[in-house]
Amino acid sequence: MKGVEWLVLILLLVLLGCSEDSPVKTQQPPISVDTLYTSSLFPIGAAIDPNYLRSTSSYHTVVTREFNSISVENAMKLGWVHPQQSVYSFTDADYIVSYAQANKKRVHGHVLVWHAFGDVTWLKNFSGDTNDWENLLKDHIQTVVTHFKGKITGWDVVNEAFHDNGQLRNEDTNLNDASDDGSIWMRMLGTGYIERAFQYAHAADPDALLFYNDYGQEVNVAKLNAIKAMVKDFQERGIPIHGVGLQMHIGLNTPDAGIVKAIKELAETGLLIHISELDINISNWVKNPDLKLTEELKQEQKAKYKSMVLAYKQNVPAAQQYGITTWNVGDADSWLRSFHQPNEWPLLFDDVYKPKPAYYGFLEGLKE
Ligand code: XIL
Repeated sequence: MKGVEWLVLILLLVLLGCSEDSPVKTQQPPISVDTLYTSSLFPIGAAIDPNYLRSTSSYHTVVTREFNSISVENAMKLGWVHPQQSVYSFTDADYIVSYAQANKKRVHGHVLVWHAFGDVTWLKNFSGDTNDWENLLKDHIQTVVTHFKGKITGWDVVNEAFHDNGQLRNEDTNLNDASDDGSIWMRMLGTGYIERAFQYAHAADPDALLFYNDYGQEVNVAKLNAIKAMVKDFQERGIPIHGVGLQMHIGLNTPDAGIVKAIKELAETGLLIHISELDINISNWVKNPDLKLTEELKQEQKAKYKSMVLAYKQNVPAAQQYGITTWNVGDADSWLRSFHQPNEWPLLFDDVYKPKPAYYGFLEGLKE
């Protein structure tokens, strides 16, 4: 062997012998760059819980690696940021926004006006005339939007204003149910509260993209039509609206035809389209304590996630693709475990944040 060849051999042996934490090895490019957002032409988001982000390092790692858009699962809702009539508190929401800024992620704000404000006692007990309620609505929207001005790309301004039959939520249909499926805003302020919410938000941050967000457009044609009619009316009258969010809390059996129809028809408005709260439940919304996540169901879920991504890519023009957001990250974080039933596995990552077949279905859809 010549001197040069010996040198090459020795160098090779040195490199091979490097330990895991060797500086030589850590300077190598990552083995795989295929993450969700690096494989996508539009933003890929997750709704985030600030407590998990703070305390669970695997959660933090997956969010940072896979997503480039951050929605806020609860921490910007009225009960969190506005716990008393004259008290605003932004600690958790600010934490998420600083994380996003430090990691160059887009922030999508959720939500300014919603009928379901849980147990916000002060609001439930608030008594005042129409003027007082109007001021309350305006004050809430403008204080929150102003606080985050310049840091938030888009806002869900009004969430779930319609019933599935296309009528605006108004009276509570079940007075014994604390969750109130009616809308206090509608009862106190009438139909105009929706457009004024958009106007108040726009006045507070003219650069923010303003969304109307709802669920079930893929299965309730009356609701889909009502939302389209509202958007058209807003566009004709110059009410500032820039996008529509389809929550997409769907099941394995939700028909693809309905999903495609809703996405396509809403995209025809010309507005941005956000799949804003995607999760695909295994149980099809049927409570079943014996349900198990079999390999077959995992594969079905994989196929459904893939067809969801393809439906979005094929039916939303590129300029209107605001992105797809899943509602939290791993199965154990999902709201469905408490809201629906404990044995549900609706997300892309399992309970310990390992990618599921669903993840690879999503990725395949992005790359196809
Ligand atoms: C849910 C959260 O995920 C839960 O943690 C919370 O207890 C209730 O709200 N539609 C929406 C979201 O617009 O805000 C809801 O989020 C899920 C349904």
